[in-house]
Amino acid sequence: MPIQYHASTKTWTLSGGHTSYVLHCDSEGRLMNLYWGSKIPAGAISFHPEDYAPVASFDLPASILPFELPVNGSGWYGTPAVGITNAAGDDVVDLRFVSAKVLSGKPGLPGLPATYAENAEEADSLSLLLKDELTGLSVTALFSVFADSGIITRSLKLENQGNSPLTVTSLLSASVPFWQSDLDVVHLKGAWGRERQIVRTSLSRNELVIASARGASGHEDNPFLALCEKNANEFSGSFWGCSLVYSGSFRMSCRVDNFGHARLSAGMNPEVFSWKLDPGESLVSPEAVLAFSDEGLNGLSQHYHRLYRTRLARGSWRDRSRPVLINNWEGTYFDFDEERLLGIAEKAAVLGIELFVLDDGWFGRRNSDHCSLGDWIENREKLPNGLAGLSERIHQLGLMFGLWFEPEMVSPDSDLYRAHPDWCLHVQGRTRTEARSQLVLDLSRSEVQEYLISAISDVLTSASVDYVKWDMNRNMTESFSAVLPPERKKETQHRYMLGLYRVLETITTAFPEILFESCSGGGGRFDPGMLFYMPQTWTSDNTDAVERLRLQYGTSVVYPASAMGAHVSAVPNHQTGRCVSLRMRGDVALSGNFGFELDLTKMTPEEVEISRSLVDQAKSVRDLTRTGTFWRLLSPFEGQETAWAFVSEDQQDVLLCVFRVLSVPNSAPLRIHLRGLRSDWIYRLENGAEYHGSFLMNHGLTVSLCGDFSSRIFRFHAYD
Ligand code: DGJ
Repeated sequence: MPIQYHASTKTWTLSGGHTSYVLHCDSEGRLMNLYWGSKIPAGAISFHPEDYAPVASFDLPASILPFELPVNGSGWYGTPAVGITNAAGDDVVDLRFVSAKVLSGKPGLPGLPATYAENAEEADSLSLLLKDELTGLSVTALFSVFADSGIITRSLKLENQGNSPLTVTSLLSASVPFWQSDLDVVHLKGAWGRERQIVRTSLSRNELVIASARGASGHEDNPFLALCEKNANEFSGSFWGCSLVYSGSFRMSCRVDNFGHARLSAGMNPEVFSWKLDPGESLVSPEAVLAFSDEGLNGLSQHYHRLYRTRLARGSWRDRSRPVLINNWEGTYFDFDEERLLGIAEKAAVLGIELFVLDDGWFGRRNSDHCSLGDWIENREKLPNGLAGLSERIHQLGLMFGLWFEPEMVSPDSDLYRAHPDWCLHVQGRTRTEARSQLVLDLSRSEVQEYLISAISDVLTSASVDYVKWDMNRNMTESFSAVLPPERKKETQHRYMLGLYRVLETITTAFPEILFESCSGGGGRFDPGMLFYMPQTWTSDNTDAVERLRLQYGTSVVYPASAMGAHVSAVPNHQTGRCVSLRMRGDVALSGNFGFELDLTKMTPEEVEISRSLVDQAKSVRDLTRTGTFWRLLSPFEGQETAWAFVSEDQQDVLLCVFRVLSVPNSAPLRIHLRGLRSDWIYRLENGAEYHGSFLMNHGLTVSLCGDFSSRIFRFHAYD
């Protein structure tokens, strides 16, 4: 039973895997968080307020206690989990326990992406109702625990059961107290072209904030944060992770109080969010996914990978091998016509590629990024036989056909904008700030959502389309809806996300056989929210293999390889100017959803041969990379060498990938210690060499690499 109530300690213990999370309702009806960590029995912990309070202090008890739902007004001075301004103009909230319900399974969140359970045995949920009597605000805190991993999810539902309007100013999906503060923080930082680089820093007395106010989770800070013990590393020690299932602006922080207690908070970003709750109205927060590992950062990542691959991603492609693709973007940019595309597709067919993706530039008058977003009508000058004709020819070559869209945007130079100039986010009387010559459609408006659903659906039914790349190439500015009243203007960004999620739900449900890949200028919206609708995301616009080592390694802290698009592109690389060997480019891309992004017609015969073998290699390992347990072994953030491995669930198949960026003169061969094997099994390499699992894990495999930009791929199969 993953959720147990212990009457004498008044605690709920949520347990699964090796983890427990303990909640308590104190004598005054306030909800406390007593514990999150390695598994403990129900009733093992009880609440003693004096454990938290210093012997003598100027501070009020409310600033010291381990609240699960801290609120303003009686001495809590941090970020409130629920902050409201009431009709009287004050922001005091006093949440007291009303009732508890334990449910089997895991309820979904209306209108929002969330992890799910496929049957009642996989998870249990605890719904706790608290109420602020004076205002009539009710808060339902929903916790779920997954039985196998002990992952806890948490979200809040606010309801105005009073008679006067309330304004929500703070809404946290998670607010978790930690007894100690001698911890490090791990998060994923970046920028366009270098997203999700691993940062580890000491938790200090200053608040550490990662956030986005851009209306997208963004390239800069991924909505993920972990605390860990000082001596914890990839393989051992405790990590507590928090990942937010949301694709819009967010704020996460770690703060240490006067007494050395830390608190991790995650939720809406108040800079760009407030919400008016009229009597009878309700609001649900995004879901926070809390994972604990006492087996290092790899252990934490493996929890997230399994959950996000199998119980966040959905649809007919969730458990299927992903096709090897060719995308024409870096090969042609806007300079293509049907003949040129078919030339590339013909070469692709010869190489064994399975999916041809037509990127930006097929619609309206789009020969540059200056116009036509919103006019989702094929350009007959480029495609004389239309999309239907092109798709038919591609299918005749034995390839599937994929198409790029950027549905959330409008170019000022477009028929859509000329017909509906008010459909973009804007503020009356102010400049509409353009980025990449485009504006953001106001997806908070239902007529805009309806337009998008029908425009995209029309295209998808007019031609045979097997794959869609859903792009989004700028962040929000003047992020206000023209149709919301002044007191609701700051709801725009969240209403936009709810509108986007509705559009995505409708389109992906209507076209269940299409494989959808999300993208935002590369990895500007690589988040769990998008993965709920689309099982894969374009990792980055940076296709340089050396940069990709860091990109894919960093991304793997939270996201599975099955979620990462990884393509071989031309050299000199278009983002860095670097020339990396074709073999290494292919070997790096092997660890994601493999594809090419170059003009295949320009390849030399030798490159064609290497590419053919890369395609074969990718096909032969793609199920292992999609479903295997991923191990980070050597970090590209720490030296010239990188190593990672995939181990099949039955531990029989192993793929080890080793890379060196620059060669080091007079250096000894590397010794790579594998992980997650059966120590008593014999693992055989393709060349017939055999090793004991214990040898590979304890002694390590000796690997020689020669030259700059070199890579080695090892495939082991075990027998006992
Ligand atoms: C940004 C994407 O990340 C690229 O892959 C490409 O699709 C361009 N947009 C097209 O405009």
